[in-house]
Amino acid sequence: MADLTDWIVWHKGYDDPESHLSQRLRTIERHLTAFLDETGTRPIRVLSVCSGDGRDLIDVLAGRADAHRVQATLLEYDERLVRRARERAESTGLTGIEVRHVDAGHLDAYAGLLPADLVLLVGIFGNISTSDIQRVVATAPAFCEPDARLIWTRHRRAPDLTPSIRQWFGEAGFAEEAFDSPEQSFSVCLERYAGDGLAMPTEPALFSFLR
Ligand SMILES: C[S@@+](CC[C@H](N)C(=O)[O-])C[C@H]1O[C@@H](n2cnc3c(N)ncnc32)[C@H](O)[C@@H]1O
Repeated sequence: MADLTDWIVWHKGYDDPESHLSQRLRTIERHLTAFLDETGTRPIRVLSVCSGDGRDLIDVLAGRADAHRVQATLLEYDERLVRRARERAESTGLTGIEVRHVDAGHLDAYAGLLPADLVLLVGIFGNISTSDIQRVVATAPAFCEPDARLIWTRHRRAPDLTPSIRQWFGEAGFAEEAFDSPEQSFSVCLERYAGDGLAMPTEPALFSFLR
């Protein structure tokens, strides 16, 4: 697997509240909050793929009295970020968060975790090949309970794949609930899975990072 980007350094983009990364985070947190509000008191299973330090989900849950109904699994390959995510969850007292040190590009990493009520594919599609993006989108129904929500992101730099990714999700059985792309800087899309489910593919390779 390519290991070119220092993802700890990349996370420093969050230090500036005006950065696109921070704006993107606020959009995601808004969707997470709305989803949790809408789902009342029922148990919720969350899967965050390539979670980084997990701040999106952990910080939202940290402020909620109903966080106990959420069982979340974060999949992350960088050991330093795995540690940070665990520390972040522990420091907030959240008990329903498991951070797994795994290669999420391999479907074995998902054993026992699916289907989920909420899936985060945040910060992935800008770092993998177009064919890998298509494979992830085609596999996404297998990640989702019927009516699950899924959040994905992508930058808008050329080649701007956002329009294609939106179309591929539609073809895979998802319905868009919200789409944000301020100043064409990044896309955050909230999808609802409108299908009945899908068996996991037998081919275990899902994606690999290019940078
Ligand atoms: C662009 S960052 C996004 C992090 C987080 N989702 C966010 O938006 O703040 C990409 C993350 O994917 C992780 N990553 C890269 N390849 C991975 C793999 N094969 N399995 C799991 N995580 C991976 C990196 O370590 C990094 O934390």
